[in-house]
Amino acid sequence: MTEEVKNTEKKKLIIEYKNVTKMYGENIGVEDVSVKIREGEFVFLVGPSGAGKSTFIKVLLKMLDVDKGHIYYIDYDVTQLQKNEIPHHRRSMGIVFQDFSLLPRKTVFENVAFAMEIVQMPRRSIRRQVPAMLELVGLQGEGGKYPSELSIGEQQRLAIARAIVNNPRVLIADEPTGNLDPETGWEIMRLLEQINRRGTTILMVTHSADIVNAMGKRVIAIRNGKIVRDEVGGQYNPEEDDDPDGDYSDHALFSLRNFDEERRMAHVSNRGKDE
Ligand SMILES: Nc1ncnc2c1ncn2[C@@H]1O[C@H](COP(=O)(O)OP(=O)(O)O)[C@@H](O)[C@H]1O
Ligand SMILES: [Mg+2]
Repeated sequence: MTEEVKNTEKKKLIIEYKNVTKMYGENIGVEDVSVKIREGEFVFLVGPSGAGKSTFIKVLLKMLDVDKGHIYYIDYDVTQLQKNEIPHHRRSMGIVFQDFSLLPRKTVFENVAFAMEIVQMPRRSIRRQVPAMLELVGLQGEGGKYPSELSIGEQQRLAIARAIVNNPRVLIADEPTGNLDPETGWEIMRLLEQINRRGTTILMVTHSADIVNAMGKRVIAIRNGKIVRDEVGGQYNPEEDDDPDGDYSDHALFSLRNFDEERRMAHVSNRGKDE
């Protein structure tokens, strides 16, 4: 058994699906899905359009109720949550979507601050924490701008800052690089990897073969609502995806090399800090 697998098995379970089925009438959303995710893992969820990836995430967030099965999260069953417990449940996870959903009339600073105001953090914490988050995502000094004044990559980084400002145990990202050019996509992946190294569990939906292959993380492939593959250090298998989106390009190959190089360097410079 490799070191990596051993270390993973020692870690605490944070999410467990047990025989989860969600139907939309006659249509299968997910069917009899069972899977365990441990604290600190970085997991890619891949599969063609209509495979059930978004359904997989929505039942975890309790945006949809399951028809069968259970989803255990930390120390409770998501499927048994009462209505009034759902907001707290969702806020314990950071969520990033493809289309950012930033607040256009609020500044960069206010967009992040707003996420803290919702959970009634004191003003003092907000003043301290927001600049720290903006720095983490490389937006230091940009707090006074509006989202429309940011590049598309900066907007996605802002969305990530907002998603992690309350220190979620899990960060869920549904195609966070789907609207970005490859270069900007890698920038976002470096950021997510950094967040993962700080201890946040990451569950990311993607169509990008380049990203999945370069990152060497766990890959859960789903198709027709069922898990068809689940492996650590998995590669993207094009046969599992008959509908890849536009993340492929000559560009991507070029930046892939840079990315590998930078990952090695980041690893070296982080040694001793978190190992
Ligand atoms: N609101 C809905 N009503 C009916 N069928 C749906 C609905 N949402 C999703 N589905 C069906 O469930 C399946 C899985 O969808 P989804 O989870 O969105 O897939 P993915 O995110 O992998 O593209 C698809 O066949 C889709 O047609
Ligand atoms: Mg989807």
